[in-house]
Amino acid sequence: MAFHPLFLQWLPLFLLLLPILCLFILKPKNREKQIPNLPPSPPRLPIIGNLHQLGKAPHQSLWKLSQKYGPIMLLKLGQVPTLVISSSEMAKEVLKTHDHECCSRPPTESLRRISYNFLDVAFSPYSDYWREMRKLCVIELLSSKRVRSFEFVRKQEMARFINFVSEASPNEVNLTKKMFSLADAMVCRIVCGRTYEGKQFEFGSLEDAIHEAMTMMASFSAADSFPYFGWIVDVFTGFHARREKCFHNFDKFYQRMVDEHLDPARPKPEHEDIIDVLIRLLKDQTMAGGLTKDSIKAVLVNVFLAGVDTSSITVVWAMTELSRNPRVMKKLQAEIRNCVGKKGIVEESDIEKLDYLKLVVKETLRLHPPAVLLLPHETMVQCKIGGYDVYPKTRIQVNAWAIHRDPQNWKEPEEFIPERFENSCIDFKGQHFEFLTFGAGRRICPGLVMATTTVEFVLANLVYRFDWQLPSGMKIEDISLEEEGTFTVYRKLPLCLVPIKYNFQ
Ligand code: HEM
Repeated sequence: MAFHPLFLQWLPLFLLLLPILCLFILKPKNREKQIPNLPPSPPRLPIIGNLHQLGKAPHQSLWKLSQKYGPIMLLKLGQVPTLVISSSEMAKEVLKTHDHECCSRPPTESLRRISYNFLDVAFSPYSDYWREMRKLCVIELLSSKRVRSFEFVRKQEMARFINFVSEASPNEVNLTKKMFSLADAMVCRIVCGRTYEGKQFEFGSLEDAIHEAMTMMASFSAADSFPYFGWIVDVFTGFHARREKCFHNFDKFYQRMVDEHLDPARPKPEHEDIIDVLIRLLKDQTMAGGLTKDSIKAVLVNVFLAGVDTSSITVVWAMTELSRNPRVMKKLQAEIRNCVGKKGIVEESDIEKLDYLKLVVKETLRLHPPAVLLLPHETMVQCKIGGYDVYPKTRIQVNAWAIHRDPQNWKEPEEFIPERFENSCIDFKGQHFEFLTFGAGRRICPGLVMATTTVEFVLANLVYRFDWQLPSGMKIEDISLEEEGTFTVYRKLPLCLVPIKYNFQ
């Protein structure tokens, strides 16, 4: 048999490549095997994906969807793949087993702008810079020692607050508004050594500014959902201009605080505030990568956005639940008044002895976690969560609100029963995935000690000095539990109560 010479010339090469060719021929079968096993997804619409299913209270809509599609769901918010986690088991996979793979943050346009191009801690993607900044926060700004050093601020502001309420008594007090002003005064003095009496901003109050920033951060900017053309939509809808106004409103405030501290004529303060610490570190330049004025402002973003709102929201929810549950209120007042006596103020050194107070705060943070969906996480690599394949750059939302109300974890989950924590080791410090108020893993809230110290101290004093009654004509059943908000969720209606001075005789 004769062969074409070209054939004979190529035959050895052909035989050499035959195994590779076989691999190619077999590949379609292998490809079938490699089809990713994606988490269940609710049906989506073209372009907007599942955005229309979020509703006004995304944590509640997502919880309802999870009842149908399970504790791990893959949604598309616009073009952004988003994993929604709704059980403690799945949360453990994300925040412990795969913490390293899942601990970045999505670089959205709003977070980028508000955080001075990710120079902060909370919104900065996972990087060496984030590790350094987080270390700085944990060691220098929010350590237990630093939090204790500001006890005098909390005590003075609380005393002022008690005076105000005493004068108002027996008239109704809008606790929602007043709690915000108290948290504002405490945080301002801790951060910059003085208060601004609500006059920080050109446009509106600190409360308005914080809520606007939260709305911006939680909103789905078209630029994030639709790469390439989304920014044009943001310009036309006015979203871009609104975000710029919000950024500059805060920026002027931070700049003014930093300038005041850099003024050579400023007298040396008796107590170092947070900006003093940051400026000292800026001058030392001990931090790898160096601290800049913008990174100082970015840290201030975190302290104001994370520190003021969350603590006041928690005290208001606690007072709401105590008003709905007179038995718990009486038990708490008896504990505090027996322990503190006629001293006139509960001091932070008393708090250690107040076991029931701690149970009440825990139960409040379970039923009403202010950050209902934590902060968004993002995967850095492909990983398997709950047996499903999850791609890199997938956004992750952990629905803490749903997990805290899951009957698999909690008996009578909708009821306010502080005693459930008696003789129980379950707490919110990141080891128990059924209780995630402060998150867990690498991104757990570094302000946990500051937050719990403030909330316990303020709540203890409120119920120690006053008995609280409902406004005339209002019944316990009328107390609303309706929620509002996106990044943080608060009581929709202001909480108004009537303080009656307690007679210590
Ligand atoms: C009741 C009060 C508070 C609650 C419920 C709360 C809750 C949270 C949650 C859920 C996270 C995200 C965790 C995650 O992504 O997995 C977080 C992060 C953070 N919180 Fe808080 N927080 C509170 C108070 C504070 C305070 C007082 C500060 C500081 C003054 C603070 C500073 C931060 C920072 C800087 C982060 C970002 C951490 C990071 O990404 O590495 N928080 N907080």
